[in-house]
Amino acid sequence: MSDLRTLRVALLGAGSVGSQVARILIEDRAELAARAGITLDLVGVAVRSLDSARDWDIPAELLTTDATALVQRADVVIELIGGIEPARTLILEAVAAGADVVTGNKALIAAHGPELFDAAARVGALISYEAAVAGAIPILRPLRESLAGDKINRILAIVNGSTNFILDRMDRFGDTMEQAQKTAFELGFLEADPTLDVDGYDAAQKAAILARLAFHADVPAEAVYREGIADITAEQIRDAAAAGATIKLLAIAERVTGEHGEGISTRVYPALIPKEHPLASVHGGNNAVFVEAAAAGPLMFYGAGAGGVQTASAVLGDLVSAARRHVAGG
Ligand code: HSE
Repeated sequence: MSDLRTLRVALLGAGSVGSQVARILIEDRAELAARAGITLDLVGVAVRSLDSARDWDIPAELLTTDATALVQRADVVIELIGGIEPARTLILEAVAAGADVVTGNKALIAAHGPELFDAAARVGALISYEAAVAGAIPILRPLRESLAGDKINRILAIVNGSTNFILDRMDRFGDTMEQAQKTAFELGFLEADPTLDVDGYDAAQKAAILARLAFHADVPAEAVYREGIADITAEQIRDAAAAGATIKLLAIAERVTGEHGEGISTRVYPALIPKEHPLASVHGGNNAVFVEAAAAGPLMFYGAGAGGVQTASAVLGDLVSAARRHVAGG
C-alpha cells in the first residue's frame, strides 16, 4: 500500500489524452496535491512501444511495456488505451488488486460497464469515466449526482465532434459532404476508422452511457437505433436552412409511454434543429448535452468534446475525486 500522503497513479496509454495527463501530473504536481489533499505520484506509463513519438515527452524512466505488472503497483489506474481488450482485462485486474480506475473508454463502458461496475463494487473500488462522453464537458457527474433528486425526461445531445464539424462546414461554408469529410480528416477530427464517427457508432456508445446514467436503463450500444450522416446532401442542408433549421447528428434518450407502459427510447440520427434552439449554435467540433428535467427544466452543457488537453481535464477531475475519497478513507 502507499503511505497516507502519496497515491500511486499508473497510466495505461500515452496517446493524445494520455500524454497530456502525464504532463499535467508532472508539471502541476504541487497544485494537484493541494487540491487532492494527497500527492499524486505517477509511478509508470504503460505504452505499446517505448520509442513512439508522443505529444509530450514522458520521462523515459516512467515508460514500460508491461501494463499487467504496472497495474499491480498502483492505487489508481488510469486507462486510456481504448477498445475492449486488453483494457477490460487490465481494469478487472486493477479492481481485483483494490485499485480505483479512471477511464475514458466509451466503447468499453458502453459494452461492459455493468460487468466492470459489479467487479468494482464487490471490492469497494470505484470506476469513473467522465472523459468517455463529451470530452471536457462535465456531464456524467451532473447526471449521476447533481440531478439525482430530479426526474430527467429527455436528453438531446451532440456527442460526436467530427460529424458536427462536417455538418457545420456544409451549413455555414457550403462544403459538399466529400469536401467537409476531407477537411475533418486533415484536421485530425475523424477517428482512424471514420465509419465509427460518420455512421454514428461513436454517438450510439455515448447515448447508451447517457441513458444508463439518466434513466438507470440497461441500454446496450447495439440496441440504440442508429443512422449516420453519410447520405446527407448539400441540398438537404440548404433546404433545412431555407426552413430556418440546421441538421445535427443527435443522440437522444428519453422516457416514452407505450402500450406496455413506460420505457426508454435511445436513438442516434441526423435531425432537423430549429435555428433558435441552443443546439443549433453548437459549431465546429464542439459538443453539447441538452437535458430536460422535471424540476430543473432545460439545462445545456456545452464545450470541447474531444482533444488531448481538453479531455485530460475530465480524466484528472476523476483522479482528484478518487484521491479525495482515499484521503477521506472511503
Ligand atoms: N471521434 C470522437 C468525436 C472523438 O468525433 O467526437 C471524441 O470521443
